[in-house]
Amino acid sequence: MKPREIRNHVYWVGAVDWNRRLFDSLIPLPDGTSYNAYLIQGSEKTALVDAVDPAMIEVLKRQLADVDRIDYIVAQHAEQDHAGGIPFVMEMHPEAVVICSPKAKELLIDHLEIPAERVKTVGDGESLSLGDKTLQFVHTPWVHWPETMTTYLPEDRILFSCDFLGSHIAMSDLYAGEAPSVIEAAKRYYAEIMMPFRKIVQKNLSKIRSLEFDLIAPSHGPIYDHPEQILAATEDWASDRVSNLVVIPYISMHGSTAIMVDYLVAALAERGVTVQKFELSTTDIGKLAMALVDAATIVIGAPTVHMGPHPNVFSVTHLANALRPKLRYAVIIGSYGWNTKVVEQISGLIPNLSVEVLSTVLCKGVPKAATFAELETLADLIQEKHAAL
Ligand code: FEO
Repeated sequence: MKPREIRNHVYWVGAVDWNRRLFDSLIPLPDGTSYNAYLIQGSEKTALVDAVDPAMIEVLKRQLADVDRIDYIVAQHAEQDHAGGIPFVMEMHPEAVVICSPKAKELLIDHLEIPAERVKTVGDGESLSLGDKTLQFVHTPWVHWPETMTTYLPEDRILFSCDFLGSHIAMSDLYAGEAPSVIEAAKRYYAEIMMPFRKIVQKNLSKIRSLEFDLIAPSHGPIYDHPEQILAATEDWASDRVSNLVVIPYISMHGSTAIMVDYLVAALAERGVTVQKFELSTTDIGKLAMALVDAATIVIGAPTVHMGPHPNVFSVTHLANALRPKLRYAVIIGSYGWNTKVVEQISGLIPNLSVEVLSTVLCKGVPKAATFAELETLADLIQEKHAAL
């Protein structure tokens, strides 16, 4: 890869990771990702904004091979996929000083053993002159760690946003244009990374809205040359608005819970309620997380193993609780063999969800006429609740 000029003396110098398929040993990356770094050459000083994942350090070294001097390395975020390459750049450029938020300094020392004497912290709104270009630092905590900040380059009207507003997608194009596939990837990324901090995302969006920029240059995915598109989409995802959508994560051991789920899907569809169902032994949890961004209701389809929920249901319920989606209603349905504590155990797993539990429909063995009647009543109730949203 070669440096790619974005504006006069401003270059993308990152690495595209086409083959990565898992992040944090947890999050599927069906479309790969990129680790974007940016070189800004002012008339007096040169700054590198973010580095790359250590796995791609050789790519960054090649990108910077012709750069004589780096005065500042701006560490917008201390996580390894952006800061992991910083020690290598510091070794290549012993003159370089790391610029970061006070909280990031602590994390960079803890996680990467960066020497404290080579770190300079900057406050919210503080500026750093590169001569004819200025870096203005805007603290935007919790997108995605507590120390994160963005960097505004007013002379070129660029906002460098790091994780914030990013997308996990590998592309040869430098710019997003108006490609729906990028917004789709950004929604997945928001769901998996940012959704737990939705209220803080709202505040950070308001904060950056006060700046005037033509480009948003994140540290994952392409650069937004139509920034209003990603801003409006993220504002919608982070808003309090929910859709007429029911999400059903479920699994079935001998088919009974699956019959209940299918019956409920049909009953809801008849009533004009959209449903997305996710079979938990095969599903992509990123797709499930995306559905949870907008859904009003979650129906958990949980068969009983011994006395409690199937382990896959435990796992996905724990994940939903951690992601803190803006769900309004929850329902538990499922089949059991002889006795069950599914409802008590699942209820105990979702303390972070501010949901009203509408109903539970459990059946012993295969579902029968009485179970189907209960599911019809449940579909009526969900339709009524959604109509009132
Ligand atoms: Fe892309 Fe939170 O790191």
